[in-house]
Amino acid sequence: MCGIIGYVGIQDAKKALINGLQTLEYRGYDSAGIAYFSEDTIKSIKTVGKVSCLRDKVSSTAVEDVTTCGIGHTRWATHGGVSETNAHPHTAGKVTLIHNGIIENYKELQEELSAKGKTPVSQTDTEIAAMVIDSCYTGDPEAAIRKAIKKLEGAYGFCIMFSDIPETIYAVRNGSPLVAAHTDKGSIIASDMVALVSYTKHYFVLEEGHIAKMTKDEVLVRNENGELYGPTIHHISWDVAAAKKGGYDYFMMKEIREQPEALRNTIKPRIVNGLPDFSADHVSDDIFIGIDRIIITACGTAMHAGLMGRTMIERLCRVPVTVEIASEFRYQNPIMDENTLLISISQSGETADTLAALRLAKEYRARTLSVVNVKGSSIARESDYVLYTHAGPEIAVASTKAYSVQVSVMYLIAFRFALINGKMSEEEATHYMTEMMNTVDKVDEVLGYDTQVESIAKRLTESNDIFFLGRGLDYALSCEGSLKLKEISYIHSEAYAAGELKHGTISLITDNVPVIAVATQPDVYAKMISNVQEVRSRGAKVIFITGQGAVVDAALCDHQIVLPEADALFAPFMAAVVLQYLAYYVAVEKGLNVDQPRNLAKSVTVE
Ligand code: M6R
Repeated sequence: MCGIIGYVGIQDAKKALINGLQTLEYRGYDSAGIAYFSEDTIKSIKTVGKVSCLRDKVSSTAVEDVTTCGIGHTRWATHGGVSETNAHPHTAGKVTLIHNGIIENYKELQEELSAKGKTPVSQTDTEIAAMVIDSCYTGDPEAAIRKAIKKLEGAYGFCIMFSDIPETIYAVRNGSPLVAAHTDKGSIIASDMVALVSYTKHYFVLEEGHIAKMTKDEVLVRNENGELYGPTIHHISWDVAAAKKGGYDYFMMKEIREQPEALRNTIKPRIVNGLPDFSADHVSDDIFIGIDRIIITACGTAMHAGLMGRTMIERLCRVPVTVEIASEFRYQNPIMDENTLLISISQSGETADTLAALRLAKEYRARTLSVVNVKGSSIARESDYVLYTHAGPEIAVASTKAYSVQVSVMYLIAFRFALINGKMSEEEATHYMTEMMNTVDKVDEVLGYDTQVESIAKRLTESNDIFFLGRGLDYALSCEGSLKLKEISYIHSEAYAAGELKHGTISLITDNVPVIAVATQPDVYAKMISNVQEVRSRGAKVIFITGQGAVVDAALCDHQIVLPEADALFAPFMAAVVLQYLAYYVAVEKGLNVDQPRNLAKSVTVE
């Protein structure tokens, strides 16, 4: 949520900032801006709209400026509408800063400031933060920041410049992520590693409450007590090409197609001698021993991966599992103790509600395990154990490959747990591991269904509502298919447990309302057929997604998409690709920006 970047070094800072913002644009795209030192004064350039608008404005107004130090921001609006005045950077007195997060007590702070005759020009909480820091500043930037953050409540990642301290950037955070590095081209800091990868694969995460001072020659970090601190250096395994479109029109399509590789990278290292095994992840089996319940908590797509996990764990391990929406769970006074295992799922590892739910679980002394894609992220670092998904960077706002690998890890957890609690034999586990890897090869095959799905998608673009039906694993998958469709195509959609529809929602089914029936599970197939008959007889346009050998009466559906032969337990991995394609092609056909759907941002670091 909001992309932020700071650069000080030997290169043209304007160029470095704008190129960096381009890679961070998926974090917010309401407005963009930069501020930089030029001849020892700070200049700002801001614009409503995308980074490309900012690039044009900088080229037409500031091409002559020489600069090697600056900060840049791409905004997802929270406080204050989308306008140039509200765009970052914000300046107050000697302070110019950019911010990712929300200052919750900005109203009280604003009242204090106006009592001293100080009035903001924007409607943002960020400008208030700049004013607070400026009011604390008497020549020592770190002292001012330290004093100011004591007054600020909420989440923040700040990059700050002081007009009388040229060629220097300060950074501090609480909640919102910041990663930084020093390289031979200078020092760089950003809200996401994708902006750093063209400089280096080695980075560190700025700890909460620590202050980084960045110059061309070094990055110095001090802890809350002002003592120098040597941060842990992390390494990423992917390179700059992974964060580029690579010839595709949209990142989303590239990421859909990367799924087989992402699945292999995630699953294969965790199969040892044919069995699911987390020893290389240093996840001790003790985490599963003696637990009496599992709570899975996450948001959005990650929560849907949790629904798949619940079905698998309950089915295989016979331990009760609940899936909790993190933003609800954290305020629910939940029941947890040391025999509870809390599993957090998050692509970014920074989602504010998921992180808060994890922190809450730790207060209750629950055991914590996270399934996270971004290395070194807050959720990964704060969990007792972490199982990383190896999806590489996911840039499209709509999650695709991250979802599949999250589901694969949830399956692995179910298999490992079933194995160690005696609910599954080694032979069975080995069989499942083999089938799982075979299915990944079949996911490759399903990538070839694009033309078929595209032609179906073209007939759905005029629909106002689309329903998804499924049972068991297919219901869990339908929730994700429905979210994918609505978030990028703006068509209203809902997923229903197929047997539940007739308890109310069936009243919405009229002539030609599309119903996507996901029916990959043989044990409930007959029931699915009955449920589809119920909507068909009310005029629904039905698209069936089935496994091989599932006989569908031609009168019952308009289209049938038949998945390759595979063990039904793993069929959702293949069906997921079909649903992602469907959402993608509907959105493309409607002429929408698939990667940057309206009102959304990739990483939600505010409540
Ligand atoms: O980074 P996280 O996995 O924690 O993000 C959770 C959700 O915000 C995310 O999955 C969101 O629902 C996606 N836009 C869905 O495509």
